[in-house]
Amino acid sequence: MRIVFIGPPGSGKGTQAVNIIKKYKPVHLSTGDMLRAARAAKTEIGLQADKYMSSGQLVPDDVIVGIISERLKQEDCQAGYLLDGFPRTIAQAEALDKMLAEKKTPLDAVLELQVPDDELFRRLAERAEKEGRSDDTPEVIKNRLKVYNEQTSPLLAYYGKKNLLKSFNGLGTVEEVFARIETILDSLQK
Ligand code: AP5
Repeated sequence: MRIVFIGPPGSGKGTQAVNIIKKYKPVHLSTGDMLRAARAAKTEIGLQADKYMSSGQLVPDDVIVGIISERLKQEDCQAGYLLDGFPRTIAQAEALDKMLAEKKTPLDAVLELQVPDDELFRRLAERAEKEGRSDDTPEVIKNRLKVYNEQTSPLLAYYGKKNLLKSFNGLGTVEEVFARIETILDSLQK
C-alpha cells in the first residue's frame, strides 16, 4: 500500500497515521517528524530547516525531495508506506511521480482530511498548551494555513485528475474519523 496523506495543519494526519500503521502496517514517512528529528540532532539540514519551520514556511523543495528520495530507496519502504506531509507543493508531487515511475510503483491513493479552519485553530491551540510545539503560536498557525491554501491545496486538483484523490470529513472523534479511513483503505485492498 502506497498512500499520500494530505490535510491542513491540525487536521489529524499524525494522529490517524498511528491508527493506519497499526492496522495496515505501511512504513510511516512524516517529513515533519524527520525535520524535527534533524533539528533536535542539530544536523546541517535540521539547522537549515529550523528558520522555515519556526515561521510556518515550507522548507525548500530540493531539501525535502532529497530526504524523501533517499528514504524511499531503503529496504523497509519496498512493501509500502504512508507519506504524511509530503508532497506539499506541485514541484514535490512531480518529483515524487518521477521517482515512482522509475521504480514502476504507482501510488494507490491520496487521502485528504477535511477540517474547517475554526476547528484547526481550536485543536492547535489545545496542543500548544499541552505540548508547546514551537510552530503552534497563533501567528505561525495562521501562516501555516495560508501556506497550505496557497501551496498545498493545488495538489487536490493534481491528484483528482489522476483519479487518486479520496477526500473525507475529518470532524468527529478520532475513532469516527479512522472508521472513514478504514472504509477507503479496505476498498483499495479488494
Ligand atoms: P508537519 O509536522 O507536517 O505539520 P503540519 O502539517 O502543520 O501538521 P500537524 O502536525 O500540525 O498536524 P496534523 O495534521 O498531523 O494533526 P495532528 O494529528 O498532530 O510540518 C511541520 C513543518 O515542517 C512545516 O510547517 C514545514 O515548515 C516543514 N515541512 C514538513 N513537511 C514539509 C514538506 N513536504 N515540504 C516543505 N516543508 C515541510 O493533530 C493536531 C491536534 O489535534 C493534536 O493535538 C491531536 O491530538 C488533535 N486531534 C487529532 N484528531 C482529532 C479529532 N478527531 N478530534 C479532536 N482533536 C483531534
